[in-house]
This record gives sequence, C-alpha cells and structure tokens, in this order.
Amino acid sequence: MLAAMSLRWTILAPLYDRMSRKSEAAGMGAMRESLLAEASGRALEIGGGTGVNLRYYEGVDSLVVTEPEPAMLRRLHDRVHRQAPQAEVVQAPAEDLPFEDASFDTVVSTLVLCGVDQERSLGEVRRVLRPGGRLFFLEHVRSDDPGLARLQDRMNPLNRFLVGCECNRETLAAIEAAGFTISRVERTTMPEAPKFVRPAILGTAVAAG
Ligand SMILES: C[S@@+](CC[C@H](N)C(=O)[O-])C[C@H]1O[C@@H](n2cnc3c(N)ncnc32)[C@H](O)[C@@H]1O
Repeated sequence: MLAAMSLRWTILAPLYDRMSRKSEAAGMGAMRESLLAEASGRALEIGGGTGVNLRYYEGVDSLVVTEPEPAMLRRLHDRVHRQAPQAEVVQAPAEDLPFEDASFDTVVSTLVLCGVDQERSLGEVRRVLRPGGRLFFLEHVRSDDPGLARLQDRMNPLNRFLVGCECNRETLAAIEAAGFTISRVERTTMPEAPKFVRPAILGTAVAAG
C-alpha cells in the first residue's frame, strides 16, 4: 500500500505544478490567498506537496511544512529554499505528526484530507493545535447535490486508482467529529477540475478547549 502511494507520487510529482497551473490561475491561487491571509502565530502545514501555498503565508511567526512523499519533498525543499528560507520542512504523514501536543496556533490543510486516513490525521491535527487554535482548510468534497454525489460514488474507484484520493468524502463532518467548531465555511468549486472533483469547501475550524 505504502509502496503504491510512493510510486504514484513519484510519477505525479514532476507533473504536479504543470497540471495545476490552469486551475491555480483560474481561481485556486486566489482561494489559497484568501484562506491564508488570516493564518497567524506558529503555523504547521500538512501534506505541503510542492509548496504551492508558501507564497501566501504573510502573517505567521514561524512555519513548519510536512510532507511524507520523497518525490514531493524534493520539490518542496527547492521551493522553500527559493521562497521561504525561514520555513522548516519535515518528512511526516499527517497520521503521525512528530510534534508535541498543543505546539501550534494554526494548521493548514489544502487538498490533503481527501487522501489520508481522516480520523487519524484530524486527531493528530487536533492534538498538535493548542485549544482555540485554528485549522484552515481548502478541500474537495462530496457534493450536496444528490445527482453529482452519485457520480462521485461511481467515479471514486477510478479517481482513487489514478490520483490516490477519494472524491466523495464528507470532510466537513469529519472535521467537526474530530473536535472542531466550524467558524467559517464557504462551499465553492475547484476551477478547471473534472466535474466529480469540483465541489470544495474553504474555511476555518477552531479546536475545542
Ligand atoms: C493533491 S496534493 C496537495 C498538495 C498541496 N497541499 C497543495 O495544496 O497543492 C496531496 C499531497 O498530500 C500528500 N500526502 C499523501 N499521503 C499523505 C499523508 N498520509 N499525510 C500527509 N500528506 C500526504 C501527497 O504526497 C501530496 O503532496
């Protein structure tokens, strides 16, 4: 299972920025910017990929970016070197974060909760956030439209095989179930994405005290 994930990311990593360019220009970049405008304090990003979010962190005191996949990690290191040399890069999966309890004010997850063990990962995010700390999320999710949700269910095995993630997850409910209060959420769409991957949520959740 782990070997299959790494093989997939070894193939996808060199293509990732090129494949996302159109979507970033058509609105994903603006969504990342608006999401991260309020990130503050000691910040942690999980599944940072090639580091697309790095340019949008302006108000944080410190930044740690985690990423488990070696092929993505190499690109992340390069981009950190160029764009955010003060940031720290740590190789780790979201399910097993090597940080102390309550050690961050902010955790950021963009396009990550679709491809991880959500319960374990959100449990870890909750653990490393201080009470009252905030999770900033931008994730593609299950549609509210029953017809589109059925299409997502049908396409999910293919999506999982090709890109290693689920396109039909109830991620907002999972965030709440992990001990967060949703403080802001916008239902939106991922520009230039296939129809079954388009429904998305963007927002902030506060860790319970
Ligand atoms: C779709 S990419 C998103 C990358 C980046 N967050 C972004 O917004 O462009 C998903 C990322 O999650 C990473 N990933 C895969 N398994 C993971 C895990 N168990 N924990 C954390 N990240 C994981 C992948 O290597 C990849 O970098």
